Amino acid sequence: MEALQTTSSVSEEARSLRGLPPGPRLPGLVQVGQFVRDRLGMLERCAKRYGEFFTVRFPWETIVFTWNPDAVKQIFSGDPATYFAGQGNNILRPFLGDYSVLLLDGPEHLRQRRLLLPPFHGERMLAYADLIREITLAEIARWPRGRAFPVHPSMQEITLEVIMRAVFGMESGERHDRLRETLKQVLDEGARSILVFLPFLQFDLGGLTPYARFKRRMDEVDRLLFDEIAERRAKGGASGRADILSMLLEVVDEDGQPMTPQELRDELLTLLVAGHETSATSLAWVFYYLLSDTAALARAREEVFRVTGDGPPRPEHVGELRYLDAVVKETARLRPIIVFVARALQQPVELGGYRLPAGVTVAPCIYLTQRRPDLYPEPDRFRPERFLEGRQTPYEYFPFGGGVRRCLGMAFAQYEMKVVLATVLSRLALALPADSDVRPVRRAITLAPSDGTRVIAADVATAH
Ligand code: HEM
Repeated sequence: MEALQTTSSVSEEARSLRGLPPGPRLPGLVQVGQFVRDRLGMLERCAKRYGEFFTVRFPWETIVFTWNPDAVKQIFSGDPATYFAGQGNNILRPFLGDYSVLLLDGPEHLRQRRLLLPPFHGERMLAYADLIREITLAEIARWPRGRAFPVHPSMQEITLEVIMRAVFGMESGERHDRLRETLKQVLDEGARSILVFLPFLQFDLGGLTPYARFKRRMDEVDRLLFDEIAERRAKGGASGRADILSMLLEVVDEDGQPMTPQELRDELLTLLVAGHETSATSLAWVFYYLLSDTAALARAREEVFRVTGDGPPRPEHVGELRYLDAVVKETARLRPIIVFVARALQQPVELGGYRLPAGVTVAPCIYLTQRRPDLYPEPDRFRPERFLEGRQTPYEYFPFGGGVRRCLGMAFAQYEMKVVLATVLSRLALALPADSDVRPVRRAITLAPSDGTRVIAADVATAH
């Protein structure tokens, strides 16, 4: 059942529908406070008390959460003109720009998405294995041996460099180094505080405010990116290169129009923001769960050595790493770094026996759905075998969201994570320190391990 007609033509069935689902009756600001402090706890309490549909009220937004797979299916396969996702990301506009696929809705969103899709097809990923492996080897060569250190910052270094090289296609050199440094500063500031993104705090005061600093850095990022785009276009687009910018330089829309420099710049920054921290945090969680489970770790290492032989992984190995694939998937089930996705209703909709008015946001909850005991027996247990034994529908398992908004970088991220993990496992024996104590903490929009997943590394040769 899709969007309703006008009130005068509402059916008998619709008349019998209830209004918004139940939810906490506390004032909006208190609900915001609870949500910011402990969103998983709040979602769990609401699910227990109110069931598969519940309403959370913020002063600026009413959100109906669901963890019912039929409702998730209805939302993900619904008309994109009814379910808007882009406007909710508006706060990122000063960084990502007006053409960002993350911010658009309707036909403009579909246009950008169609242009971006081809370079992200699964089979293209093979081209990146060697690059990701080399970046990983260079990073782990710097890891200390025999004492605990957090892997999360190191994963950020790897995923940033992967984006600089595989997505932007930038070779080492002065422009690469300056862009990398400036982006790190901007991303770090954005992850620590969203204040620079709030419109009412965007004033300059002679260049002294955090916003002024942010603006200066963004001007530098733009200059470097536009220079790179112009130089590459002048050299003739892809010319045998496999990076994503090279491919985007060649795509044309239905009218035969290529992407403009501004569109290219906006999408490159979107891919960076959507793909850097998410992949790094996911990897940090995979290390945590894998190292917490001796049997899973032994099985993963055995697979890596059997498939890759003595050396680190090559492109043809990645598809063979089935248990590692299951480890990555089970980690994303148990600890999705994005807890829910959101769609703002542009028309009234019937969902799960409720009649929801336009203006309400519906939120398929990744975290709650993926811990349903009927779908995942012993849901709190890390058991990668689940993903070797059965298949889940895209409405029962959706760490990358769904429908026309599903993560564009899903295949890229899963491939990258497997290459990084296999490379690390092929070279190092890892363990968690005895005092390891990890909780999920909020970092920008993701939930990250509180201690950055501290590990102790030893070279494989010395570990045997
Ligand atoms: C493990 C890592 C990642 C996770 C968990 C993740 C998760 C997500 C989620 C939950 C969404 C929202 C989907 C929705 O609203 O239904 C999304 C969107 C998106 N992701 Fe990812 N992502 C990851 C890595 C990446 C990478 C590596 C890239 C690109 C290089 C990327 C690019 C995007 C883009 C462009 C969108 C917006 C799609 C649209 O609005 O049409 N992501 N991602």
